[in-house]
Amino acid sequence: MRKKIVAGNWKMNKDLQEANILASEVVNMVKDEVMTDTVVVMCTPYVYLNKALKLTDGSKVQIGAQNCSEHASGAYTGEISAPMLKSIDVPYVIIGHSERREYFSETNEQLAAKVNIALENELIPIFCCGESLETRESGNHFDFVCNQLTESLFHLSAEELEKVVIAYEPIWAIGTGKTASAEQAQEMHEKLRAHLASKYGDLAEEISILYGGSVKPGNAEEIFAGKDVDGGLIGGASLESRGFVDIVKSI
Ligand code: PGA
Repeated sequence: MRKKIVAGNWKMNKDLQEANILASEVVNMVKDEVMTDTVVVMCTPYVYLNKALKLTDGSKVQIGAQNCSEHASGAYTGEISAPMLKSIDVPYVIIGHSERREYFSETNEQLAAKVNIALENELIPIFCCGESLETRESGNHFDFVCNQLTESLFHLSAEELEKVVIAYEPIWAIGTGKTASAEQAQEMHEKLRAHLASKYGDLAEEISILYGGSVKPGNAEEIFAGKDVDGGLIGGASLESRGFVDIVKSI
């Protein structure tokens, strides 16, 4: 079912004390101020997941991890598996963030395996896609991003795809303060939905497609107004409770 979702991606930020304060503030503000059925997710570093799950228990705020291994278990020092996340009841996991693709050389094929293992473990993947500035300037951005979906998601059955959330994040807009315009976001989201429809038909209407890249309280409302924009994946602005909850409220 297509839902409105605002997910915060804390990336590698906050120590334990700061994380506690941020998570508690978000829980309280969401309880007092968010009356809609917008899904609010906080994707914290792994080490805080357990604590964050306890802090948000019984609240409207959900928790997500920022990555998982494509392997179920074994000799992969430093990795975290989808079965581990399932065992502590984490509902969401970001897969294929551009920083993972760029700094950890994650490929579309590997991400397809991560999506599979996440779904096998009843995690909801927030699958990220998006083009570099170079690709956009070459005019090939629609094909490039559609191909990321083809190679990492199009092997899924309709029942599997239905569980996936997609986040379009143009790399040139991430952490740069340079957001895509509301028109650029809507235009790409419409293309992605049409691409999903070319394989999955009407199911495409049921998939939530989030926008990410320098979303702030001041630009969120305009971006979220796009008819194919179902919310946001928020990096920098999710590190401050007031701004993050204001973004949630601007849906
Ligand atoms: P940003 O990051 O909001 O800081 O641009 C978005 C993301 O990387 O998910």
